[in-house]
Amino acid sequence: MACILGIESSCDETGIAVYNSQHGLLANVLYSQVAEHAKYGGVVPELASRDHVRKLQPLFLQALEDAKISKQDLSAIAYTKGPGLVGALLTGACFAKSLAYGLNIPTVGVNHLEAHLMAPMMEEPAPPFPFIALLVSGGHSQILSVKGLGKYELLGETLDDAVGEAFDKTAKLMGFAYPGGPKLAKLANQGDPLAYQFPKPMTDRPGLDLSFSGLKTHVLNTWQSSDKSEQTKANIAASFQHAVCQTLIIKVRRAIKQTNIKNLVVSGGVSANIQLRQELSALMAASDGQAYFPRPEFCTDNGAMVAYLGWRIFTEKGAADNDLAIEVKARLPLSDV
Ligand code: KG4
Ligand code: ZN
Repeated sequence: MACILGIESSCDETGIAVYNSQHGLLANVLYSQVAEHAKYGGVVPELASRDHVRKLQPLFLQALEDAKISKQDLSAIAYTKGPGLVGALLTGACFAKSLAYGLNIPTVGVNHLEAHLMAPMMEEPAPPFPFIALLVSGGHSQILSVKGLGKYELLGETLDDAVGEAFDKTAKLMGFAYPGGPKLAKLANQGDPLAYQFPKPMTDRPGLDLSFSGLKTHVLNTWQSSDKSEQTKANIAASFQHAVCQTLIIKVRRAIKQTNIKNLVVSGGVSANIQLRQELSALMAASDGQAYFPRPEFCTDNGAMVAYLGWRIFTEKGAADNDLAIEVKARLPLSDV
């Protein structure tokens, strides 16, 4: 029976979890730094690293207590090795490597994007391979064909802003504190999605690439020339969200046609968006397929997805190491997995 500790520290969330091969997830603790960074309108890398250093140890002890295990029960330690903020990644990697050295157990460095991608595998029912994956987070927006663990083919990606980044920037220009994406989504519930005709970028040309910076600028111009009333704000939020959902739907429909794959996995922070979940579920049902999502708390960054993926890599690929060298990567494409 294997017990894997998972450590996530790639950005502004410290997440630690314990995954057990027989009993599944035993513990999952998270500390979010958003309140700290909100004052600056975005993540301040140095502050993020310092806060991870403060939180890793207490969260680790809390996770052991929640899981009702001792550190000697751990079989391996998985940590996020990239992509992300280098300083933040280093704090988790150093913690993982030194703890593993002390316990004489191996480490598994995992790719943060792959961890997001596999997060829906912790749900019932788990998505079967092969599937199309729509990975939409604050830093990445990609469409992939996934044939199995480690078998990822990139079909399309954003040429500029990620979907979450577009949500956050649009929210910021309308006065919401960082990260404004979820707040904008909430406001959209009170608005009319058809009040404004915003562009659906890159849908008038073939291919699966995405682009969101033009849409963001379009919304900025609309906002600046508007009456800025509460109802207008809600209408803009709803119309923006509608344009994003429609764009992603057109691209996913294209990806299904291109690959003939009928299962869709949606993951990353923006997969928490209720409108997107509803529209993609309806699209897949109408295409004789099914859409799979992580539960809301596993859409955004967390330690559970790192522990889970670490367990799969450890048991299926035996890819663990006892090397003390600490290597993290700001950029780490899924093609390098
Ligand atoms: O996956 P994640 O926690 O961090 C990265 O790896 O980037 O994603 C965070 C992103 C943020 O941009 C946040 O605004 C966005 O996910 N997000 C949402 C929602 N919840 C989180 N965007 C739209 N609607 C939501 N409900
Ligand atoms: Zn993430």
